[in-house]
Amino acid sequence: MIFSQIILDWYSVHKRELPWRKTREPYRIWLSEVILQQTRVAQGLPYYEKFVHAYPTVQDMAAAPEEQILKLWQGLGYYSRARNMHVTAKVITEEYNGRFPTTYKELLKLKGVGDYTASAIASICFNEPQPVVDGNVYRVLSRYFGVEHAIDSGKGVKYFKELAREVMDKDNIRDYNQGIMEFGAVQCAPKKPYCLLCPLQESCAALAQNRVHELPIKGKKTKIKTRHFNYILFMDDNNNTLMEQRMGKGIWKGLYQFPLIETDKEMPADFIREKVKKGWDTIKVDALLPLNEHPVIHKLSHQHLHTRFWMVKTESSIAGAIPWPEVNQLPVPVLIADVIKSIKI
Ligand code: ADE
Ligand code: SF4
Repeated sequence: MIFSQIILDWYSVHKRELPWRKTREPYRIWLSEVILQQTRVAQGLPYYEKFVHAYPTVQDMAAAPEEQILKLWQGLGYYSRARNMHVTAKVITEEYNGRFPTTYKELLKLKGVGDYTASAIASICFNEPQPVVDGNVYRVLSRYFGVEHAIDSGKGVKYFKELAREVMDKDNIRDYNQGIMEFGAVQCAPKKPYCLLCPLQESCAALAQNRVHELPIKGKKTKIKTRHFNYILFMDDNNNTLMEQRMGKGIWKGLYQFPLIETDKEMPADFIREKVKKGWDTIKVDALLPLNEHPVIHKLSHQHLHTRFWMVKTESSIAGAIPWPEVNQLPVPVLIADVIKSIKI
C-alpha cells in the first residue's frame, strides 16, 4: 500500500474527536491552526474553546479590543500571532465582507497567514490539494524517507515541501493533511515513536537504519542569551501599583509588566534601590523587599531570563498607579501572571 493510503487508513481509526474537526468554517479552522502552531492539541483546546466562546464569528473578533485578545492568548507566547490574527479579522470583516478567501494564493495575502496556515485552510475548508508541512510532517517525512536535509535550512524547507507535495493524496487532501499531522503527533512522536506498532514500519528508512532518534536533523544551534530582569512592584498605602506596557519589537510587545530594570548581571538590593530612587525620583522608597531569594529562570526559545521581583513600599500615593486588583485584567507574560497569583493582598 502506498504511503498516503496508510496515513489515511491510520487516521480513520485513530483520529481524535476535536471541535475543529466538526466544522469546515474557515474562521474556526484558521483560529485552530493559528493556536496549534503555538502549542500541542491538549494545551490548545481550552484556548480554542475560550476564543470561540468570546468571539463566535470573525466579526466578533474584529470588534474586540486588542488587549482583550492578548488576554485570551495569555500563556501561548509569541504574541504577534494574536495581534496579526486581530488585524486579519478586521480585514476580513471590512474588506472581504466577512468571508475568507477560498484559495491558497489568496489566503497567503492575509497578515500572519504563511505557507502553513494557507495550506491548512485551503485544504481543510476548500479541498484544495496543498500539502501542509508543520513540525509533525517534517518528523514523519524525514524518518520514513530517511531525509537528511536540515529542516531549518532553506534547502531543507524547499525539499520537504516538494516531497510533501509528491506523496500527498490529492483526492482526500482534507483528511490526508490532518492525518499526517495527527500521525506525527500521536504515532511518530518526537521522543517515543511507537515503531513496533506502526503501519509504516516495514518500509520506514529510519527504522531500518536504526536512526529514528537522529531524525529530523536540525542545523542551526540557536544561541541562547542570558538576561537579568528586575521587576519592581510598587505598592503604596492604598495598594496601588504601577504597570507599564511593553513597546518596541520583542515577543511581548503590547503586553503589560511591572516596571523593569535590566542589569548585566545579578545585582544586590542596594543597587536596585539606588536605581529605583534615580528612575522614579518622585516616589519615596520606604522599603525594598526581594520577593524571591534567588532568580527564577524562565527559558524562552532564544533567551534565558533570570528574573527577580522586588517590592517597593511607599507611604505616599503614586501618580499613575492602578489599584492592585486591576492588574488581573491586563495581558501579561506568564512569568508575571505567576507572581501576581502568588501575592495575596
Ligand atoms: N496540528 C496542527 N493542526 C492540526 C490538525 N488540523 N490536525 C492534526 N494536528 C494538527
Ligand atoms: Fe515513525 Fe517509527 Fe513509524 Fe518510522 S516506524 S514512521 S519512525 S513510528
